[in-house]
Amino acid sequence: ASSSGPTKSVSPALTFEVLATQGRARASRMTLPHFTAETPMFMPVGTQGTVKGLTSQQLVDLDCHVILGNTYHLENRPGSDIVAQMGGLHGFIGWPRGMLTDSGGFQMVSLLHLANITEEGVQFASPVDGSMMMLTPEHSMAIQNKLGADIIMALDDVVSSINTSPERFEEATHRTTRWIDRCIKAHAQPTEQSLFGIVQGGLNRDLRHTSIRQLSERNLPGYAIGGLAGGEDKSQFWRVVAQCTAPGPGLPFNKPRYVMGIGYPLDIVICSALGADMYDSVYPSRTARFGVALVPSGVLKLKNICYREDFRPLDESCGCMTCKKVTRAYLHNLVGKGIPFAAVLMTYHNIAYTQRLTKQIREAITEQRFPAFVRDFVHKHYPKGD
Ligand code: GUN
Ligand code: ZN
Repeated sequence: ASSSGPTKSVSPALTFEVLATQGRARASRMTLPHFTAETPMFMPVGTQGTVKGLTSQQLVDLDCHVILGNTYHLENRPGSDIVAQMGGLHGFIGWPRGMLTDSGGFQMVSLLHLANITEEGVQFASPVDGSMMMLTPEHSMAIQNKLGADIIMALDDVVSSINTSPERFEEATHRTTRWIDRCIKAHAQPTEQSLFGIVQGGLNRDLRHTSIRQLSERNLPGYAIGGLAGGEDKSQFWRVVAQCTAPGPGLPFNKPRYVMGIGYPLDIVICSALGADMYDSVYPSRTARFGVALVPSGVLKLKNICYREDFRPLDESCGCMTCKKVTRAYLHNLVGKGIPFAAVLMTYHNIAYTQRLTKQIREAITEQRFPAFVRDFVHKHYPKGD
């Protein structure tokens, strides 16, 4: 599909094959122990082992290939030992398809401002009783091995891309490399679960370059681009993704590339154009719970009084369960009263929208009309040219 060298990689628990390319964009197939996924793909986040408001069957109906679980939240409650007794997360939550778990450090740093990072690991006060606890690379691997997801993430030293000193970024980049070696060593099931490394380095070109090179040398089944979506400028964010996906100095062409924490539709389109394959974010589901629907022209804020007598579906072009059955006026009424069922209907639509978007991206790349797709997407999103 490309002149950039091999288009396929085979590792014990993951096969990745680029099927079509256009520019840097790629449409690929990723075979995991529990499912054969197609990329570019969006992975909804099931923080507590469920995507809030949706059943596993609904996620299958919505054509979700992989969902995300969080080590930190699940280890807190119910604990990985209980999950392991049910045959891992797949059995515990009744999800038959692909599953990915994040390593936990990022969640601690972003949720618990009490977290303190040392060479040993991420130190934090237990949210249960305030006692000091430590998440090390070894501990994160042990937990993720018990949870049993198809893809597990390395513990990385994540620092906010704003308000951080250059020295701290340098330390975090090299520490992330030292930690990947501890993760590789501690990973007990490499033939069943694929460990992805995470590129760090903030917005610094040299540090990102170092991180890309050091991780690529480890020859992992896949790579993530981390430390983004933390409030930096879009232009900086896109520049870092472009550097990580550049032919030659970037991440290997024949391995999956996952941009962590990305969920705005425009970012998914741009990152896919830059050659990224996987995304995850709470955005589509969280924003749904605030009464915000994703539509081709941007967003609809259903609380707005203008929807009181608007008897159209959320999105005429959608056709999801919500759009087939109910109107904006009905949703306006439910959202305004804070009725939980509103969140279910809105979440269903927003995940349907995001899955349709990634499917359209895959088809456009396969049919060699991706540039026209991007133009059309941007034109609909910014009809007035702003
Ligand atoms: N989720 C969003 N960004 C990141 C990151 O940089 N590292 C990890 N582990 N998870 C993330
Ligand atoms: Zn819909």
